[in-house]
Amino acid sequence: MKNVVVLIGSGSIGQAIARRVGAGNHIVLGDLKIEAAEAAAKIFENAGFEVSTVAVDISSRSSILNLIEHARQFGAIKNLINAAGVSPSQASVEKILQVDLYGTAVLLEEFGKVIADGGSGVVISSQSGHRLGALTEEQNAKLATSPTEELLSIDFLKEITDTLKAYQYSKRCNVLRVMYEATIWGKRGATINSISPGIIITPLAADELKGPRGEGYRNMLKASPAGRAGTPDEVGDLAEFLMSSRGRFISGADFLIDGGTTASYWYGDLQYLKKTH
Ligand SMILES: NC(=O)c1ccc[n+]([C@@H]2O[C@H](COP(=O)([O-])OP(=O)(O)OC[C@H]3O[C@@H](n4cnc5c(N)ncnc54)[C@H](O)[C@@H]3O)[C@@H](O)[C@H]2O)c1
Repeated sequence: MKNVVVLIGSGSIGQAIARRVGAGNHIVLGDLKIEAAEAAAKIFENAGFEVSTVAVDISSRSSILNLIEHARQFGAIKNLINAAGVSPSQASVEKILQVDLYGTAVLLEEFGKVIADGGSGVVISSQSGHRLGALTEEQNAKLATSPTEELLSIDFLKEITDTLKAYQYSKRCNVLRVMYEATIWGKRGATINSISPGIIITPLAADELKGPRGEGYRNMLKASPAGRAGTPDEVGDLAEFLMSSRGRFISGADFLIDGGTTASYWYGDLQYLKKTH
């Protein structure tokens, strides 16, 4: 039996993380689109990793339980990487809340019951969650601690009508849920953290930068403190640290990795974005 690394969402960010923690372990590549998991599997196998693939929909608890059962055949689940999600331009308000908010919460709850002693997880949230103004203490507590099956009935979530807000609330909820779950994962000797990336170049983002809205994005990146977008490998490096032996004192925390874009959005040259974002 080996240690098992479970990656859900086999895109570039997830792959960069799994490559860094996967050597010598069994990697389970999960995705809603099995073709995406299989394409990733080919790359991993050709680079010497042991992998298997499984179709999974994180908005379904039974599908998550099926993924866990698949993973446990190979050994103890040591790492969870959640890089699955839908973006505001890809999906409806309901879908975003179901996948990004509820799905992530169920995933943390179910993996929190089986994660190995000494294990560690990361959830990919987004800088978008940091563009939402402060919520009240009561709202925070509802997002952090409501039973998973009651999450989608929270009053202020039911009022959301635009997809960007749905995405921002979902990503804020990921961060709060990670805090709550860290208290439970800790009892099993495991850590869980979230990472909130800015614009990271993936095939989709590269297309966006060249597309009709590309000029706006390019100007925003130019005016940001780093002056550029990030790469999946930079997110991978941060995740590797959090899941390594050097990261054992870090749990329930969120890490912005956005080249200073959020700082500039609130207090610098990017404040003009507040009108549209
Ligand atoms: N790329 C960026 O600039 C960026 C920035 C901030 C945050 N993020 C976040 O990073 C994560 C990964 O994004 P990416 O850019 O690699 O995108 P991606 O589209 O390449 O990867 C996301 C994967 O999630 C899968 N997926 C969608 N719904 C699912 C479901 N219900 N169950 C299981 N899998 C599902 C998709 O099939 C896809 O393969 C997302 O959560 C996204 O919100 C990305």
